[in-house]
Amino acid sequence: MALRVLEKRSALLARRCEELSAARIVVGAAIVRNGRLLAQQRAYPESHAGQWELPGGRVEDGEKPEEALARECAEELGVSVVVGEQVGPDVPLKQDMILRIHAAELVGGEPEALEHNAVRWLTADEVPGVDWLPADRVLVPALQALLT
Ligand code: C5P
Repeated sequence: MALRVLEKRSALLARRCEELSAARIVVGAAIVRNGRLLAQQRAYPESHAGQWELPGGRVEDGEKPEEALARECAEELGVSVVVGEQVGPDVPLKQDMILRIHAAELVGGEPEALEHNAVRWLTADEVPGVDWLPADRVLVPALQALLT
């Protein structure tokens, strides 16, 4: 009996692992300069317009997450970054997507809101008060820790 329960649990775990490895990754950048974190304000879709997020986007087929993040930072902000360690946990998004944040060092260019309403450099104290997208909000403690 106990063996049957264990078998069932192990089958469930295996299925969950398959689901997670099939999840599509959205990568985001925690870019810190002079003790401040870079955030950008979404212009679309209407449901999220005006809310703030870390720069980033979907990893395309055949891309590594680090490559995707460098591409997104170039497209959205016009900057070059060197991608570092993951910050905080993976956060589930809608459907089969997860949000994964990496520290990123600004190595070229000055960030501009090329596809967003605005960019802003936040102090550790300002981070919790921002109107973040829900998944980014989950990462607030990890982002504050990065700044202090
Ligand atoms: O930017 P893009 O539309 O490609 O992002 C894909 C999904 O990831 C969207 O649902 C967006 O709301 C979400 N996202 C997020 N936090 C980020 C970047 C994207 O929740 N920092």
